Amino acid sequence: MPVPGPNEVVIRTHAVAANPVDWFIQAMGLIVPADGGYPAVLGCDLAGEVVSVGANVSASGDASFAPGDRVCGLAGAHGAGDFKSGAFQLYAKTNKGLLAKIPDSVSFAQAAVLPLGLSTAATALFQRDAMALPLPLPGTATAAMDENGQKKKVILVWGGRTSVGSCGIQLAVAAGFDVATTASARNHGYCRSLGATWVFDYHDEGIEDGIVEALRGHECVGVFDAWSRGSVAQCARILLKLEKNGSVSSGRKWVQTVLPGAAQVGEEVPEGVEVGYAYGSTLVHNEVGPAIWGKWVPEALASGALQCKPEPEVVAKGLDGIQTACDMGAKGWGTSSSPKLVVELI
Ligand SMILES: NC(=O)c1ccc[n+]([C@@H]2O[C@H](COP(=O)([O-])OP(=O)(O)OC[C@H]3O[C@@H](n4cnc5c(N)ncnc54)[C@H](OP(=O)(O)O)[C@@H]3O)[C@@H](O)[C@H]2O)c1
Repeated sequence: MPVPGPNEVVIRTHAVAANPVDWFIQAMGLIVPADGGYPAVLGCDLAGEVVSVGANVSASGDASFAPGDRVCGLAGAHGAGDFKSGAFQLYAKTNKGLLAKIPDSVSFAQAAVLPLGLSTAATALFQRDAMALPLPLPGTATAAMDENGQKKKVILVWGGRTSVGSCGIQLAVAAGFDVATTASARNHGYCRSLGATWVFDYHDEGIEDGIVEALRGHECVGVFDAWSRGSVAQCARILLKLEKNGSVSSGRKWVQTVLPGAAQVGEEVPEGVEVGYAYGSTLVHNEVGPAIWGKWVPEALASGALQCKPEPEVVAKGLDGIQTACDMGAKGWGTSSSPKLVVELI
């Protein structure tokens, strides 16, 4: 049984979701250091019930938790930074800054789809060393509005049907931006239901000019490439074309990616565009974590402003089912509208 240290919470896991990083680590031995990292327990996404809390957790404040609270959060190497505290176990431990209470209307299976996608998108959009957009808090959203309260700034989220992109669309909308995004044709309604204004099919050869034409007269604050696998250079070219049209704000042309440069194999990014990389859990160390996990997530889940998307598909029950979920995920990942694979542990 894990013992919670200061700022830590132990959760009885009810549902966990599998992410690409889980099966990549298992197959390739990434991220977990050979020296001191093992035995490691994988798993990022969990939802469950708080069983115990460490010092500084039960005090009043935005991020206070007590036994019995229903929560979802980010665990493990991506969460607490501890390779033994992954989500794929009956009792997991994480930092209170990566947890949020969930309303009774949201099931554990639904909530389990959020943590890694949400943390990664929030880090990318709001962290100062990333896109540094205004946080979705009362008042700050107006930064993206004109004097008549109309949205005036646009962000392009590449890959709106990915887990990361689904959260990215919703966070950007909450921060007051108009969102343009890309997805297969069958997911255009899905992206609009999350709040996107424009959706383009990334299979279309003419997509670059299509986006530039649609955004004529709008001010684009940059591109959040929530896919980043062969799409970074294309996002950069779109920004350069938008700039030619006078549609890029503040002269800064920024493509925010979710994979480090070394993983973006074969990408030739044109000059004049900056490329940034965001790692999904760094928000716990700055003002973005408390603003998003401590404040926005619980309120947005309760109000419906945050939907738990992509929909969970419960593929197994019990710890034994986690390998099944990872194997299913690894097979054909990214080629179609992959559901979020969830395992229920209770
Ligand atoms: N930096 C971090 O901390 C971090 C954390 C998590 C994930 N990631 C990375 O973020 C990316 C997304 O991960 P995820 O788990 O969110 O993915 P996911 O949910 O498994 O994404 C699946 C979706 O990807 C879409 N897709 C496939 N090829 C695409 C393309 N060329 N352009 C746009 N969309 C495309 C497909 O959409 P359609 O069905 O519409 O075709 C598919 O439904 C991955 O590269 C992953 O490695 C990074």
